[in-house]
Amino acid sequence: MIVTSNKGKFLEYYQLFRENGFELKHYNLKYPEEQLGSIDEVARRSLYYLTGIIKEEFFIDDSGLFIDSLNGFPGVYSSYVQSTIGNKGILKLMRNETNRNALFKTSIAYYDGDIHIFNGETRGLISTEERGKNGFGYDPIFIPYGEEMTYAEMETIEKNRISHRYKAAMELMNYLKKKKI
Ligand code: IMP
Repeated sequence: MIVTSNKGKFLEYYQLFRENGFELKHYNLKYPEEQLGSIDEVARRSLYYLTGIIKEEFFIDDSGLFIDSLNGFPGVYSSYVQSTIGNKGILKLMRNETNRNALFKTSIAYYDGDIHIFNGETRGLISTEERGKNGFGYDPIFIPYGEEMTYAEMETIEKNRISHRYKAAMELMNYLKKKKI
């Protein structure tokens, strides 16, 4: 089961899990996210908090966008920055910047009696304008390396072939498959 109040995240995971023969349940719940030093720590802390409430196996996803020329900003502040200055604010900050390299990271924290962390990273470029209507959050300004389109110009199935979330989800599903044997 995934615990998230973000419908976009759930849909991506739902598709990835289905493709791999897993059925994924959704618990739509907003939970506290402390601003700690890394997304792994944020995910671990939130998961730990939720283990006091949820009594079955579940996972959460904490993700962040790390922009090279901004020394990794917004990073662990990605959620706050998205809801305050948003994509337009990021583009403004980077108006005359030629180094547009960035990294999207996902940390999955999974609980099955113990806490496990799985990671995924995708490098890319920050576009010069917002493009595309799909996805959520920073999708309209992130172009994965080797692609022309932003995440928001891709269908979920295409984003799910290359994304930071896909890579972390594969790590989790490999663990789940091994556990089944
Ligand atoms: P969260 O803390 O993992 O929910 O995400 C931090 C911020 O990054 C939120 O504003 C999300 O909308 C955004 N975000 C997380 N994952 C993605 C993604 O795959 N694409 C674009 N934005 C994302």
